[in-house]
Amino acid sequence: MADYKIAPSILSADFARLGEEVENVLAAGADYVHFDVMDNHYVPNLTIGPMVCKALRKHGIEAPIDVHLMVKPVDRLIGDFIDAGASIITFHPEGSEHIDRSLQMIRDGGCKSGLVFNPATPLSYLDYVLDKVDMILLMSVNPGFGGQKFIPGTLNKLKQARAIIEQSGYDIRLEVDGGVGIANIGAIAAAGADTFVAGSAIFNTDDYKATIDKMRAELAQ
Ligand code: DX5
Ligand code: ZN
Repeated sequence: MADYKIAPSILSADFARLGEEVENVLAAGADYVHFDVMDNHYVPNLTIGPMVCKALRKHGIEAPIDVHLMVKPVDRLIGDFIDAGASIITFHPEGSEHIDRSLQMIRDGGCKSGLVFNPATPLSYLDYVLDKVDMILLMSVNPGFGGQKFIPGTLNKLKQARAIIEQSGYDIRLEVDGGVGIANIGAIAAAGADTFVAGSAIFNTDDYKATIDKMRAELAQ
């Protein structure tokens, strides 16, 4: 079986009790903490920044923090998140003037790097930078909000991204973000994803462990 990772998006957590929420979801079996950064410019919503990432580290969170930058321009925030304790930093190509340089900045800072593709963004952005990418993140909704419906065309795009990764021979994770839950995680894995962001599907339930266990049971089939 593939090395599947489940990455709860804290966008749907109770921000008034964020440290406790992150501890609880990790104790429930989550692998990564998915950290959604929105700037009310690149996407129509405003969330959290490097100070909150730093606060989670100070609180004692040791799990990988998977920072998803939905901001424009990205470069200055990359440095701030490296300093704040991020583990993985992904950004949208539309948010960077110089994609190769932004990817290199992330790796130079000791983090894993990744590119994020909106539903209508072509995978051809990968053509000349595959050697600088540790993660490909396909959005299965238009970015900006939790709780949206999975766009079915993402399954075909996942297959294409999986083929690109296999052909390259590089060790690259394939993550999917938006509308992922117990009902569709199996089909999403079958299309080639190995890393699953889920916000509302986890945080809007009472028992995080029961939900994550059910997701893993779907992945084991
Ligand atoms: C959307 C964010 C997602 C979002 C996922 O722009 O990048 O990470 O929180 O939320 P759900 O799982 O509820 O679709
Ligand atoms: Zn995200």
